[in-house]
Amino acid sequence: MTAAGNRIAVVTGASSGIGAATARQLAAAGYRVVLTARRKDRIEALAAEINEAGHQATAYALDVTDREAVQTFATAFRTIAVLVNNAGGALGADPVATGDPDDWRQMYETNVIGTLHITQALLPALTASGDGTVVVLSSTAAHATYEGGAGYVAAKNGARVLAETLRLEIVGTPVRVIEVAPGMVKTEEFATTRFRGDTEKAAKVYAGVAEPLTADDVADTIAWAVTRPPHVNIDLLVVRPRAQASNTKVHREL
Ligand SMILES: NC(=O)c1ccc[n+]([C@@H]2O[C@H](COP(=O)([O-])OP(=O)(O)OC[C@H]3O[C@@H](n4cnc5c(N)ncnc54)[C@H](OP(=O)(O)O)[C@@H]3O)[C@@H](O)[C@H]2O)c1
Repeated sequence: MTAAGNRIAVVTGASSGIGAATARQLAAAGYRVVLTARRKDRIEALAAEINEAGHQATAYALDVTDREAVQTFATAFRTIAVLVNNAGGALGADPVATGDPDDWRQMYETNVIGTLHITQALLPALTASGDGTVVVLSSTAAHATYEGGAGYVAAKNGARVLAETLRLEIVGTPVRVIEVAPGMVKTEEFATTRFRGDTEKAAKVYAGVAEPLTADDVADTIAWAVTRPPHVNIDLLVVRPRAQASNTKVHREL
């Protein structure tokens, strides 16, 4: 394990799901976590919870698609040990024939451009730490497509390519790039956001699946990867529940 000490870990999209779980686990591993997301009340509540548990956390409201706001945020840091690019998600599940271009744009803006903004802004501080780690939350959607998934698949492919290319470009600097690609994770908001609040449609995503991954399962893999010794780069972790063999092959007991 690397000694986290007083080192800073920034987590985007820390107001729910995988981001919140990752913030909790990195704080428990000894990092000073900086929680960012658009919903200030939620990240402030989580920061309070982490601090009450005897760890260190601060909250900073941030929309990763707002380049200027991201750049202002970055000026607060001289060195950063870990950046977890988690903010993102899916919108809609329409076929290519009828998909809404606005959904596609928004997914690209958040999952790709948002990751680009914050990674660019924090790269100098990650390098200055002498041992920086960039994590990109892609998805199994970045590795294989599925019907109704094209907009999200395209965006997550963008995030994957950003991670892979950055790794090539910064080799020789003290920063490593880790891609974590989860399959089906049952989080409170992911599917509900995708289906715009339609909880019935959202529930169908997980129907009959005995044990989808939890946010904690994914946070656990992220925390494991970032706490490997600095010379060890876990390029890519693909993590699925046992009941899921591929994006389209899921065992359901209905
Ligand atoms: N759940 C899955 O099955 C699954 C599988 C593979 C990959 N993933 C990926 O894992 C990540 C987390 O997913 P999750 O399941 O935890 O979803 P979630 O609960 O919906 O969390 C998404 C997070 O992203 C934040 N966010 C969205 N747009 C943002 C923006 N413009 N600026 C800043 N923050 C923004 C949200 O916070 P605010 O709304 O407060 O801004 C929220 O904290 C996403 O990138 C998702 O695509 C999820």
